[in-house]
Amino acid sequence: QNVEQGNFQWSAPSNIALVKYWGKKDNQIPANPSVSFTLNNCKTITKLAFAKKEKQDIFSFDLFFEGKPKEDFKPKIQKFLERIEIYLPFLKDYHFTIDTENTFPHSSGIASSASGMAALAMNLMSLEKELNPEMTEEYFYQKASFLARLGSGSACRSVKGEVVVWGNQANINDSSDLYGVEFPYTIHENFKNYQDTILLVDKGEKQVSSTVGHDLMHDHPFAERRFAQAHENLDKLISIFESGNLEEFIKVVESEALTLHAMMMTSMPYFILMKPNTLQIINAIWKFRNDTKVPICFTLDAGANVHILYPENVSETVLQFIQQELVDFCQNGQYLCDSLGIGAMQL
Ligand code: PMV
Repeated sequence: QNVEQGNFQWSAPSNIALVKYWGKKDNQIPANPSVSFTLNNCKTITKLAFAKKEKQDIFSFDLFFEGKPKEDFKPKIQKFLERIEIYLPFLKDYHFTIDTENTFPHSSGIASSASGMAALAMNLMSLEKELNPEMTEEYFYQKASFLARLGSGSACRSVKGEVVVWGNQANINDSSDLYGVEFPYTIHENFKNYQDTILLVDKGEKQVSSTVGHDLMHDHPFAERRFAQAHENLDKLISIFESGNLEEFIKVVESEALTLHAMMMTSMPYFILMKPNTLQIINAIWKFRNDTKVPICFTLDAGANVHILYPENVSETVLQFIQQELVDFCQNGQYLCDSLGIGAMQL
């Protein structure tokens, strides 16, 4: 198939891990399995224009972020293209123009690497499909997730499905360290349209990148126990998703969030990404839950922001609580309302 030029456009969502990926081996192989909720509103939208070029000696691309040239991000893309070239051998045949934007405020402390790498991977797979039209849809999404993983580990969970598992887990047959798979078992209706309100506590640049954090798990005193615990917690979630037991869900999710940060606090060098307001919010959530019995819980990424997870039917009460008691802990009073989404979409 000879494809001269054209363009594609995809959106890919962010995701929030329930069981956290923290620690990896070579080639972005996770040290433990993880599972995440796919988000609906926090997305990256990326347009990829491609044109055949004469010389095929180097990668050639222009990068735009919100319409403006984005030079400082080019090395990351260059490295990504180098990494995936063996899987997409046509990459040097084209000049690419990559146009990207996020639906969430940039430098909000919401990692755009997952949604960004997933959106780029989807576009590159669209080009591969143009060149090899006979591929199945299953292969398309699987390989897109595989490629996204090589850009940013957690990006492989931003491709397809509401609940996505990444990493080998004995009782999830199709699970793989190489790509994310849609959670294959029953999910109780308690989780239908589950809500995630993201409180923006600190929008500054993180002091320690997640790349460094993953690395610090190599000589970490608690690493092996932690990796085993992730398997156990994923097992627990499998039955929780089936039963709809929100009390148990809350325990697993909050424990995972605190364990992630405990790993940071116990690495050498040690570091803390939570801020005073992160703890204020956590305490307020615990008090609210205790007083009202409304099943809300928090989770954290590798940063100070707090994700509040809750079922759709308590939305009104929770949003009222957030507005009355939590906005003051947010930078500029900012928070984002999101909910479960289904994955990347071609536009
Ligand atoms: O995908 P990375 O390398 O940015 O790592 C992300 C790790 C966490 O967000 C902290 C946890 C996770 O599973 O998403």
